[in-house]
Amino acid sequence: MKKREKSAQYMQQYQEIFQCPICMADMKIVDLKSLICTNNHTFDVTKQGYINLLNSSSKTKYNKKLFESRKSIVDSGLFVPLHERISQLIANGVGGEERINILDAGCGEGSHLAYIKDNIDKKLSTDVLGVGIDIAKEGIVVAARNHMDFLWTVGDLAKTPFQEKCFDIVLNILSPANYGEFKRLLKDNSMVVKIIPQREYLKELREIILEESREESYNNESIVKKFKENFRIMERHPLSYIFPLDKSLIPELILMTPLSWSIKEESLQEYLKTDLDHITIDFDILIGKP
Ligand SMILES: C[S@@+](CC[C@H](N)C(=O)[O-])C[C@H]1O[C@@H](n2cnc3c(N)ncnc32)[C@H](O)[C@@H]1O
Ligand SMILES: [Zn+2]
Repeated sequence: MKKREKSAQYMQQYQEIFQCPICMADMKIVDLKSLICTNNHTFDVTKQGYINLLNSSSKTKYNKKLFESRKSIVDSGLFVPLHERISQLIANGVGGEERINILDAGCGEGSHLAYIKDNIDKKLSTDVLGVGIDIAKEGIVVAARNHMDFLWTVGDLAKTPFQEKCFDIVLNILSPANYGEFKRLLKDNSMVVKIIPQREYLKELREIILEESREESYNNESIVKKFKENFRIMERHPLSYIFPLDKSLIPELILMTPLSWSIKEESLQEYLKTDLDHITIDFDILIGKP
């Protein structure tokens, strides 16, 4: 069976989650080839195994190289404590469900969701369905190439192609949010897990590239305030650590962040010579319950 058909077969098991992005009708997989709504709006499963449910194509600055670099960095173990903490918070927060549906909104190349699902699978006997959505096709292609048995979707997190009240968890890692949409998607006993960078996040890298520290200027309180306004209960879990860095990862570290967008080629060659041997991770994990 080809990858397209295998992915379509997997989507078919969970097709009740989808909602037509054009007319909002129910959708189903037909001929292990397309996701079609009751009004015949048709979206083909791609040969890489994802589905594009964006109404119009969108060009973003996030490119293939950035997502591949992000994947190498995630695979290097830089975010292991983050994955462990998120999985534990989710495992503590759910209970009694037959299956936990997790949406990663702004999932990029998908490996955070893959590691988190893997951790939860080890902690709980409950089934976990992982769904990733990102507006950048380049990220979703990398996700679908590396991780089978997830629903990888190109789409807008502000107007998702999913039915209301179908997720137990919405993850939102270093990505924009749309709380109105997240609340529409969440079941009654559910939670949003949002990860935002704190002041020291990647500070060594920023010092090299921006030749300044964001210490004076950076403040995430407006993000926290907006989050608080949207959820009845809020918990805040800080997470900071220093990760020893292998030299071979420096190019990927530089290229995985939007900081790289402003770098000229000649400066990039200079930055690549840096002898950085560690990097700081500094996050706030926000948990919200509707
Ligand atoms: C900094 S990246 C983080 C990606 C991933 N969560 C990670 O941590 O590796 C921000 C992501 O948000 C996505 N994004 C931005 N606006 C979006 C939207 N309206 N809908 C879906 N994804 C969006 C971008 O395409 C990008 O993949
Ligand atoms: Zn439709």
